[in-house]
Amino acid sequence: MADKENLEKRYKRIYDQLRELVLKTENKIARMATIAAILHHKMAQFFWTGFYILIDGELIIGPYQGPLACQILEKEKGVCWAGVTSKKTIIVPDVHKFPGHVACDSRSNSEILVPLIDKENQVWGVLDVDSRKFDAFSDVDKDWLEKIVKLI
Ligand code: SME
Repeated sequence: MADKENLEKRYKRIYDQLRELVLKTENKIARMATIAAILHHKMAQFFWTGFYILIDGELIIGPYQGPLACQILEKEKGVCWAGVTSKKTIIVPDVHKFPGHVACDSRSNSEILVPLIDKENQVWGVLDVDSRKFDAFSDVDKDWLEKIVKLI
């Protein structure tokens, strides 16, 4: 329980900091870059933290922090596309068991995917976070990351 409380407190601090930082510009790329940088450097278990943006039916890499990632994700395959299709956050405790998982880096073992949804209920991108730990993400991460992407 103490771990969960600490995680909640850390996310609350990050959220408050990001809420101030995003006021500087309405530019989405700037906001995504800021969110990726803050999350990646404040959350020890985040190994890859970033965005893919849906452009002309393709998921293209956006702002990110961490090791080199795939620039374009093969259509309808893997966790990111599953999030686009379902419009729901997906927690993957073991990526090796996820059908079609795209391993941009073989050191990733678990993942959380949060779709970015506009006012017309259309998905326009995703936030993707990978961890080297198995089962690194919980509903606490889901709730806060869903709240954080609304700042974009
Ligand atoms: N694992 C993702 C691909 C993106 S990388 O993890 C950065 C997927 O299966 O869609």
